[in-house]
Amino acid sequence: MRRYSRITGTGSYVPPRRLSNADLVTQLAANGVETSDEWIVERTGIRARHFVDDGVYSSDLAVEACKGALQAAGLEAKDIDLIIVATSTPDMVFPSTACILQNKLGANGGAAFDVQAVCSGFVYALTVADAMIQTGAANKALVVGAEVFSRLLDFQDRTTCVLFGDGAGAVVLEASETPGILASDLHADGKHVGILCVPGHVANGHILGDPLLKMDGQAVFKLAVGVLESAARATLAKAGKTEADIDWLIPHQANIRIMQSTAKKLKLPMDKVVVTVDQHGNTSAASIPLALDAAVRAGQVKPGQTLMLEGVGGGFTWGAVLLTL
Ligand code: UT7
Repeated sequence: MRRYSRITGTGSYVPPRRLSNADLVTQLAANGVETSDEWIVERTGIRARHFVDDGVYSSDLAVEACKGALQAAGLEAKDIDLIIVATSTPDMVFPSTACILQNKLGANGGAAFDVQAVCSGFVYALTVADAMIQTGAANKALVVGAEVFSRLLDFQDRTTCVLFGDGAGAVVLEASETPGILASDLHADGKHVGILCVPGHVANGHILGDPLLKMDGQAVFKLAVGVLESAARATLAKAGKTEADIDWLIPHQANIRIMQSTAKKLKLPMDKVVVTVDQHGNTSAASIPLALDAAVRAGQVKPGQTLMLEGVGGGFTWGAVLLTL
């Protein structure tokens, strides 16, 4: 009998410090940076984001998200034999945030590693975990997106610092006789490295280069709209499904205009799109599992429904996963 993988629990966590656009506008104005709630809402759909306090790391956010996912799945940490964390803001250069998370959860002993695909990280991680479960390399996995993007922001650059937030989301993915994950489609094109990057690195005890986020927003926007449509169509084709089979589109939460454009291209009404960008901003690899968990807990997304998850971001990377919850 063929082995499949299935999501059996979801969880998420955002740090308590919430900044509305008005809070951020005031903070930035004190440093001579001018922006407005109107500009941010109109261009992005973002109304608020959460930022961590000093001393809080991606693994701390991930622990809370994983506890929620484990509880929803009716599992304990010791049942987990694989942890994959998608993050671009790891706690340390090494070891991986997944290893740190594993120890904090008390899930020691199974495989644990990070995936770095920036805002596409969660769909990459989910695809890898699905493949490992299908082959029998793992049985019960935690797949996590966790980020503290506030640490990468240049608060003198209004074109980027208003967009991002911190948070974590997690799913438990278990081996199953019935299909959960139906198909996925991953891509990257490294010639676009420069349009979204944090170019600094650590060498000989120093940070060399710029350790803050740089983005050509319009270039990212144009690429994102095209690849989100193509990845969704390729994934549907692999699964033998059509747009009409999608109950919910859960795209990376970067910008409401990108989501609206993707939904239009896929002929999906916006009431089939899960939107949390207004409350969380862009939380990079955490955004899709955060949105998924919010929709599950709100009773919006229900077991048995078909979901299209889609990520796009630095690399340039993009991908989609079609699944039955
Ligand atoms: O996870 C994937 C990562 N990123 C993305 O998905 C981002 C994709 N790109 C975007 O979401 C949009 O390109 C942005 C939201 C970043 C920018 O929106 P836009 O409609 O492309 O604006 P723009 O860059 O064309 O800028 C329009 C104007 C400019 O002023 P001028 O030159 O027309 O006078 C900017 O200087 O808006 C100005 N501007 C701002 N004004 C107030 C840029 N940032 C701000 C700001 N507040 N925060």
